[in-house]
Amino acid sequence: MSENQPSHDVLHRLVHAAMLAPTAENCQPFSFVWNGKSLDVHHNVERAAHPLSCNFLTSQIALGCLMEAIALQSSVESWSPHFSLHLPDQLIDSLEGNPWLSVRFEPSTSHEADPLLEGLPFRCTDRRVYQGGDPADPLLASLEADSSDCDSTALRFLSTAPPKELVKHIVACDELFWHKPEGALSALKWIRFDDEQVSSTQDGVSGGNLAFSRLETEVLRWMPRSASLFRTMGTFGGKVVYGYRVTQQLRSACTLGCFATSDLSPQGIVQAGRRILRAWIRLNMAGYGFHPYSMVSMVALGAQHQLTGPLPVNFQRLFREGQTLLRRHFGLGPSQSPIWLFRAGKVDPLPKKHRTLRRPVQEVFSYEPA
Ligand SMILES: Cc1cc2nc3c(=O)[nH]c(=O)nc-3n(C[C@H](O)[C@H](O)[C@H](O)COP(=O)(O)O)c2cc1C
Repeated sequence: MSENQPSHDVLHRLVHAAMLAPTAENCQPFSFVWNGKSLDVHHNVERAAHPLSCNFLTSQIALGCLMEAIALQSSVESWSPHFSLHLPDQLIDSLEGNPWLSVRFEPSTSHEADPLLEGLPFRCTDRRVYQGGDPADPLLASLEADSSDCDSTALRFLSTAPPKELVKHIVACDELFWHKPEGALSALKWIRFDDEQVSSTQDGVSGGNLAFSRLETEVLRWMPRSASLFRTMGTFGGKVVYGYRVTQQLRSACTLGCFATSDLSPQGIVQAGRRILRAWIRLNMAGYGFHPYSMVSMVALGAQHQLTGPLPVNFQRLFREGQTLLRRHFGLGPSQSPIWLFRAGKVDPLPKKHRTLRRPVQEVFSYEPA
């Protein structure tokens, strides 16, 4: 290995940090190839495919998080990363084979650790009921203000606990799962129902980390994977139970946050992903749980830009009106599109057994033959 390039150990640590970044459903769609000059990050369409994930919007956000994780780890290595994105506007399947991102490294003289690096291994999604919190906490204002010079991303918090109107809207949007069950069935693929499944796959989300009771999780586990059955279950109570759980989660939150961007190109979304990871780690480090709601934000945005498959007419209307609702509640300007909504609230640290795992570095990292 050339002295002008990071050693194997450094690359291993960088990839390990990159893998700690979140991905939708913990699908971990990225793999890494060192070609002697740059670390190429590839995207696996099969792992990332989701009937409601338009133009791989979720992977674009996840890529931004991954870049920020590499930047955090680089802050303690003697290298500074230079990122080159290779993302056309439409991320069609033909991209398979080409990397989404290349990272070159140049020697760096600074060894000052980014303070967020410490929180990276503990960042997590927490779907439990929270213990509220103070929406006037100065941390929230400081997160809103934390933006870089060329930043098209904004973060806004409500100055109150989640209002009824928004809670109702989020629950209504999530009902799409019952009307277009392909989305829910695809998500079910990533639920790991016992310890053996968790440890053999090292991906997906454990059943214990969902919003459901033990009994509800068991019903999900044994339910035949059939769209029509799922629809029927929705009609006969599933919708009500799920709506109740989501309402409970939202009512327990301190507040809601919304990321918005004025640049909806893949580059703009990836940039937002970088900002998302920093805010997420800061919230977790301060004792706040963080729980995203993609349906009301990301899926709704995709639907508006005709990036999702056909949706029932009432949901098209709901999503369209929802964008206006989010703009109003979060004080966003006409050029700012809400892309990601989440709840935050004080909560005890997530028990280790509920944390998601990551595939081992040796499974996702390789060297290109010389
Ligand atoms: C782009 C993206 C979208 C996500 N959307 C949701 C969501 O709608 N609901 C949810 O409960 N979790 C959502 N998550 C959280 C992931 O399921 C979670 O990050 C993943 O399982 C890894 O777990 P961790 O965050 O605890 O490391 C999302 C994550 C990402 C990166």
